[in-house]
Amino acid sequence: MPTISQDKITLRKGDDFHLHLRDGGAMQSVLPHTARSFARALVMPNLKPPITTVAEAEAYQKRILNALPERSVFCPLMSLYLTEKTTGDEIRRAKQSDSVHAVKLYPAGATTNSESGVRTLEALYPIFETMQEVDLPLLIHGEVVDRDVDIFDREKVFLDVGLLPLTKEFPELRIVLEHITTKNAVEFIEAAHPRVAATVTAHHLLLNRNALFEGGVRPHHFCLPILKRERDRESLVRAVTSQNPKFFAGTDSAPHAQHAKESACGCAGIYTAFGALELYCEVFDEAHALGALEAFTSEFGARFYGLPLNEEKISLVKKENPIPISYRMGDDFVVPLRAGGNLKWRLEERD
Ligand code: NCD
Ligand code: ZN
Repeated sequence: MPTISQDKITLRKGDDFHLHLRDGGAMQSVLPHTARSFARALVMPNLKPPITTVAEAEAYQKRILNALPERSVFCPLMSLYLTEKTTGDEIRRAKQSDSVHAVKLYPAGATTNSESGVRTLEALYPIFETMQEVDLPLLIHGEVVDRDVDIFDREKVFLDVGLLPLTKEFPELRIVLEHITTKNAVEFIEAAHPRVAATVTAHHLLLNRNALFEGGVRPHHFCLPILKRERDRESLVRAVTSQNPKFFAGTDSAPHAQHAKESACGCAGIYTAFGALELYCEVFDEAHALGALEAFTSEFGARFYGLPLNEEKISLVKKENPIPISYRMGDDFVVPLRAGGNLKWRLEERD
């Protein structure tokens, strides 16, 4: 049980079940931000080129472990990038490896580095069959890529044409609909069979689509799936504070170099790893639901993935905490969410 007073909460250390760490110098820069407040993170495989084999995932995991700051205890959980060439043997190898915990499906062209993704779901049904048989979770970027579909409707349409048939065809397959953004998705997950769950990001809980155009175009609020309406945001807040084990934390912290975001064609992705736990805490506090935070960040996701709960405890205090205008990221800079503003909660650092 978390201990909670008005200005302080102590809870079990949690996990981020959707994180982009990138590689090389960029990874070295952003990794300590996550390792500071989460015990484990499920690392997304959309590198260039993507991580498609267990051998590549293991090598990537080693690079992450080697980049950790001294004395930092953090476990990267790996995922594979599903392509039309993924084999059943690779799925079985993944299930047997200690490193890989899930397989990620990106509809081709849906988001950053998704060019090698999947064009038709039906072509992958034999792979889903194997994943269902060995019980390896399928993670889905749930948007259609049809240019005729309005960008704000792409998640909703995917639920109807992609996810509903999939959950019917594979009732035992563990599925996570990643970074959900709409009331439709909340209702879909609530109604789906018990093996279907969803991650929710801090930024989709904090912002609605007005944030994209506050006094001008705001590239640092652009991510995919794109921010939605206020009623969608409210529905997400209700879902995560409802203590339903189908909804758990996945930040989708997605760092891009400042120049790649502040461009005539800026990349999708919001950087939150520097303060993701504090941001989630703010959401739950403002919803008068701090008592539900620990289950969301530290229990439901671990249970879904069959992982032990973390033993370590951490505390957050309600104290303003300034956010820099940028952080170094390899040879570049990354602009965090709410750059130059404040976090409303602060992690109590231990020595
Ligand atoms: C992610 C990225 O930059 O890798 N971008 C994003 O907007 N969320 C990819 C993704 O998860 O869609
Ligand atoms: Zn992502």
